[in-house]
Amino acid sequence: MAATALIEASLVYLLEPLMDEALVAKNLDTAKWLPIAFIAIFIARGIAGFATEASLGWIGRSVISSLRREVFSKFLTLPARFFDDRTVGPLLSRMTYNVEMVAESVTSVVTIGIRDVLTVFAAFGVMLIQSPRLTVFVVILFPVIALLIRVLGIAFRRYSNRIQDSVGEVTQVTEEIVRGNWVVKMFGGYDYERDRLGEVDERNRRQNLKLIRVRSMGVAVTQTIFGFGVALVIYMASRESLEGNLTAGQFISFFSAMMLMLQPVRRITNVNATLQRGVAGADSLFSIMDEPDEIDTGTVEKNDIRGEVEFRNVSFGYGRDDGPVLNDISVSVEAGQTLAIVGHSGSGKSTLVSLLPRFYEVSSGDILLDGISIRDYKLSNLRDNISLVSQDVVLFNDTIANNLAYGELRRHSRDELIRAAEAAHVMDFASELPKGLDTMVGDRGALLSGGQKQRVAIGRALLKDAPILILDEATSALDSKSERHIQEGLAELMKNRTTLVIAHRLSTVENADRIIVLDAGRIVESGTHAELLAAGGHYAALYRMQFSEQ
Ligand SMILES: Nc1ncnc2c1ncn2[C@@H]1O[C@H](COP(=O)(O)OP(=O)(O)O)[C@@H](O)[C@H]1O
Ligand SMILES: [Mg+2]
Repeated sequence: MAATALIEASLVYLLEPLMDEALVAKNLDTAKWLPIAFIAIFIARGIAGFATEASLGWIGRSVISSLRREVFSKFLTLPARFFDDRTVGPLLSRMTYNVEMVAESVTSVVTIGIRDVLTVFAAFGVMLIQSPRLTVFVVILFPVIALLIRVLGIAFRRYSNRIQDSVGEVTQVTEEIVRGNWVVKMFGGYDYERDRLGEVDERNRRQNLKLIRVRSMGVAVTQTIFGFGVALVIYMASRESLEGNLTAGQFISFFSAMMLMLQPVRRITNVNATLQRGVAGADSLFSIMDEPDEIDTGTVEKNDIRGEVEFRNVSFGYGRDDGPVLNDISVSVEAGQTLAIVGHSGSGKSTLVSLLPRFYEVSSGDILLDGISIRDYKLSNLRDNISLVSQDVVLFNDTIANNLAYGELRRHSRDELIRAAEAAHVMDFASELPKGLDTMVGDRGALLSGGQKQRVAIGRALLKDAPILILDEATSALDSKSERHIQEGLAELMKNRTTLVIAHRLSTVENADRIIVLDAGRIVESGTHAELLAAGGHYAALYRMQFSEQ
């Protein structure tokens, strides 16, 4: 960059001998070396230009890469609550739009700070050499321009801040119709969705237009002011020339040096806006990086967990105004026993089991594992000891085998994998596929049926082989026949494990050591199947209802 600045300045400096000696005085010597000097200068300029672009590109791409990796790592370790509170679109656009914006701003600022500043100095030197008096006139113009640009820069930041949000909205709406295209088709949501996109897109367009107008307005005003300046300089130059203080070559060289400054000066005075754009983009990136990670202050690490679980006066709310979701829940499960949780949908069953792997922190009360508060365990140790089949099965866009042996489970051998796949009846359908377990499941497992996905999730939990097993409506998408098959595998699995099972079909909870019935976040009944039936309360009613359905 420094070389580029010097080369540009020497180019305009050489205009003086070209004009005065080669053209006006017709000096043969000068006429010979000048073209060679110009060739050398252009070669050097090419090399310097290439080096500048290449290294700037390197800086920019490095910024993008490291920001992206950092934000991604952060996404991995943020608490579940963080994601509940936000929509996906803006989070995704951080990874693309914001990151690019920061990198662009960084490279621009580096260019301005080095090449442009040096170019201005070098050109200024040439001007001083050619005509100190004219230089003074030019210097007077700078404060005026700088002041104007400052005012414009402030307006600029306001708009660029707002633009990011509306880009997020565009991604959000688009993502929703991509994911929900069945619903859109079924319920004729075409016009509604088009309107919705139209609205956010229009907002985005308007704001971008504002941005463009403000930016080009800044340029236009600056240049106009510069135009007045140029006129003044030309007037002064002709006076100097009349008095014999300025040759034609000196004037051309001076004037070219001044023009050479024009672009760099414009960018320097605009540096604030460029910087602000980056700052606006970085703001939301760093606010994510500054979010607190999951709390992981526990120190207990146990390899021989028996699996004794106790909920002690646990209350919990999601932190909204709608009050607690769980109210004073106390229940304990001995190691190796099975606790079934039943209740209407929305009664808090999934919430209750999600507290055990600490997806959320209890608001009051405590949960104990082998007599030790789960908060005292290292988070990774706690989760290593829990297998979970959640209500919404999440599969990644990878093969069935890699979805079974996800993450830490990768270390299992192919034989172990196949055994788990058989127990979970994944093999039933996988063996029919041309690539077997190595078949890709598509985006979120879209190429599998709901029941098939559930079987993969069950297989994954089987493979993990942890002392505690949580099954949250793990077989809800299966027909009764497949369910019965899997139930055999699950029963085998539950034998020596503490199991928390939420089941929509009561036939699957009959054998539990204890059943609790939740209603609006409270335990309203507790006991064995036989006891609860005899009591003739909620459970008995639920049971009778299902029985008559069947
Ligand atoms: N992530 C969440 N953020 C806020 N509220 C939630 C969240 N998940 C569930 N809820 C609310 O908590 C209550 C219990 O939900 P849940 O535990 O899923 O019930 P169940 O599994 O028994 O059907 C519901 O009223 C639901 O609206
Ligand atoms: Mg649920």
